[in-house]
Amino acid sequence: MNFFIQTFGCQMNESDSSQIASLLRGAGYNPADRAEEADLIAVNTCCVRQSAENRALGYIGSLKGLKAQKPDLIIAVCGCMAQKEGAAADFLRRYRHVGLILGTFALARLPEYIAAYRDRGEVIVDVAENPPQTTDLPAPCAKDGYKAQVNIIYGCDNFCAYCIVPYVRGRERSRAPQQILAEVRALAQAGVKEVQLLGQNVNAYGKDLTGEGWDFARLLSELDSMEGLARIRYMTSHPRDFTLKLAETIARSRHICQHFHLPLQSGCDRILAAMHRGYDTAYYSRLLEMVRALAPEATITSDLIVGFPGETDDDFQQTLDFVSECQFDAAYTFLYSQRSGTPAAALPLQVAAEVKKQRLQTLMARQNPISLERNKRLIGSKQVILVEGISKNDPAQWYGRTDGNKITVFAPHSKNDLKPGEMLALQISGAQTWNLQGECV
Ligand code: SAH
Ligand code: SF4
Ligand code: F3S
Repeated sequence: MNFFIQTFGCQMNESDSSQIASLLRGAGYNPADRAEEADLIAVNTCCVRQSAENRALGYIGSLKGLKAQKPDLIIAVCGCMAQKEGAAADFLRRYRHVGLILGTFALARLPEYIAAYRDRGEVIVDVAENPPQTTDLPAPCAKDGYKAQVNIIYGCDNFCAYCIVPYVRGRERSRAPQQILAEVRALAQAGVKEVQLLGQNVNAYGKDLTGEGWDFARLLSELDSMEGLARIRYMTSHPRDFTLKLAETIARSRHICQHFHLPLQSGCDRILAAMHRGYDTAYYSRLLEMVRALAPEATITSDLIVGFPGETDDDFQQTLDFVSECQFDAAYTFLYSQRSGTPAAALPLQVAAEVKKQRLQTLMARQNPISLERNKRLIGSKQVILVEGISKNDPAQWYGRTDGNKITVFAPHSKNDLKPGEMLALQISGAQTWNLQGECV
């Protein structure tokens, strides 16, 4: 039996998919390169915004033809969208070619459910909120040999008013530090250069580990002292919980990347309060000041949402002004998407789609020149990159990432001895909004 996994959504889903792949390999399945060659297709879905759901639904719909040609094909819908209240019933009604509907808590049971489905041929649904034992999941592995993702905490307790994640990923559960350290050590020994620690809210790490004295800063320090690793990244940290201790740990570390992703969401205090973000712009400015004082060279990026219910032109203007003040290296900008079941979905004064789109354009037009300007400042500097591969746009060029997570394109001296996963020093020679150009030194 061959399997194929199609992944939508964030790093958490990427990492889940790689664990699903390990589980399936362990159960005797072989990975297929294309869905057409598979006997089992698992679709790992995301529901953070309607656009993500539409992409997943479009893909699942497109499998109908394949199932008609190959009646034995097994199609499993997994992940956040499957976990959403009412979603399973919807899938059962509208997507008859789907055989298994498994929520985010049922990951580890996929192989046994497939076996049961093949035996009985009846649709299987498991969307119970039943936190997995972390030992049920296979140890993470490096997909490409040099980069790996390690979950450190599952779930989210923040309940930002717009966000569906806490409803589909459950409450915060920190994994045992000994287990994380052992997994990272094994990855480093296997030659992995970069580890990305994952959690919806990594700064909450350890809060639920009673009496053990573990927090995110301590976990990072322990990992930083491990031999073999070149880089440690993490995703995502909440600005509210970003302590001085944590910023100092990162700034003074040997291997923790000098990249701070601090999702701001809005630059208007009234909207931040309505979003339940737990900070205001004054706090956020002080946080940036603290980070820049400790790590002047660090990259700072953010997430922003336009069109949260009740956002007026004036509120949006405050976001624009604050974004200019913050001088982010990059910002990911999103149209507010109404997620049923979240408090914001029930708010009056939903912003019209046209207004949201216009605001998004205006916001990007404000941020992009800032990103370009900040990238240009790096021209002439020396940056060490982790080589990732051949550029998709130009086969004569390769690309990698700086410590600050900036994609850097370069023409290698000699292609023969260049490998993904290598560390390479470059002199920055050019800059665009989303990437840098470098030359080998
Ligand atoms: N836990 C992370 C990321 C969560 S999802 C964090 O808090 O930073 C990633 C981003 O998607 C969020 O930062 C937010 O900007 C955006 N997002 C979440 N829900 C959204 C919604 N309903 N509409 C639009 N954007 C949303
Ligand atoms: Fe969603 Fe907020 Fe949790 Fe991030 S911190 S996952 S935005 S509820
Ligand atoms: Fe999407 Fe789930 Fe991640 S909703 S953003 S895949 S946690």
